[in-house]
Amino acid sequence: MNMTLYEIEQLVFAEIVRVSTAKELEEIQHTYLGRKGHLTAILRGLSELSLEEKRDVGERANLLRVRIETALKERLEEFKEKQEERFFDITFPGKKVVAGHFNPLTLILKEIEDIFISFGFSVVEGPEVETEFNNFDALNIPANHPAREMWDTFWIKSQSSNLKSQRLLLRTHTSPVQIRYMMTHEPPFRIIVPGTTYRYEATDARHEMQFTQVEGLVVGEDVTLANFKAVIEAFFIRLFAQKVEIRLRPGYFPFVEPGVEVDATCPRCKKKGCELCKFSGWLELGGAGMVHPNVFDAVKYNPKEVQGFAFGIGAERFAMIKYGIPDIRLFRSGDLRFIRQF
Ligand code: FA5
Repeated sequence: MNMTLYEIEQLVFAEIVRVSTAKELEEIQHTYLGRKGHLTAILRGLSELSLEEKRDVGERANLLRVRIETALKERLEEFKEKQEERFFDITFPGKKVVAGHFNPLTLILKEIEDIFISFGFSVVEGPEVETEFNNFDALNIPANHPAREMWDTFWIKSQSSNLKSQRLLLRTHTSPVQIRYMMTHEPPFRIIVPGTTYRYEATDARHEMQFTQVEGLVVGEDVTLANFKAVIEAFFIRLFAQKVEIRLRPGYFPFVEPGVEVDATCPRCKKKGCELCKFSGWLELGGAGMVHPNVFDAVKYNPKEVQGFAFGIGAERFAMIKYGIPDIRLFRSGDLRFIRQF
């Protein structure tokens, strides 16, 4: 029995929505648009109609055919998408999850912080743009003192004030945070200060203009240099998971008295001599000493009542030793081949 355009329209779209396989869609296509399909029959019968009916029915039938074809095509696409979603080949090699890498500097700082925290230290930070007062004057390095030449400085042009000691600079070491902390806290305390420092100097495999220091400061009653030696030795054993010898050599820093340079036996060659330690068996790691009374005066502590030790070590140098990195310039090179190794 022939169907009318209205009947076809009522049925066909409901069927297209209801079916769930491509094969069923094919059947619908066949039933309505095939050679003997319902809509084909109407189009074939057009010749028997009057001119006016022909135009009207012909137009509506063709429009319906286009709509049915479009609906069938769209539904078929849906099936394909669903099938792709469901398809999971367990024999196919997995896709590697691309995760970022930590810079070895971040890794070493985290390790250093964790070790000192376990020793009862607090981690403190300070600004990278400092006043001349905190970076130099309060640390017993007055203007025109030759010791200032130990730290080639990047100065900041300040529009507001060029008052003496209020001039701004990029801190040349983390020691100014000693001043900031002592001015706002009372002893006893133990702190470390990790942070970025800047020096206007030529770069080579061991020197950068921008590098990282970790400052340490312990202040209280009866604090001695022997305490420092014990702390730094324990720190080394933890960081390198092996026994290392510490050697203190006399060294000059205006803010400590006595001052020492800290060397450790080279963890790579164990004192035999290698390229890392320039065949000396020892590596220089930083400076240290007992806080100078003039520094205590500057922060209004009574040097007769409290003592303290301070140290400043280069973080990149520790990472270079621990991870076997030959050149300090690699840390901030942005070279992904370097970063991906960690
Ligand atoms: C200081 O900066 C003192 N503030 C350290 C200190 C703190 C002494 C507290 C006493 C008491 P020095 O300039 O030696 O000292 O630097 C300390 C360490 O920072 C060096 O041993 C080295 O490991 C690192 N360092 C210094 N300059 C550079 C540089 N240009 N590039 C990379 N690391 C550097």
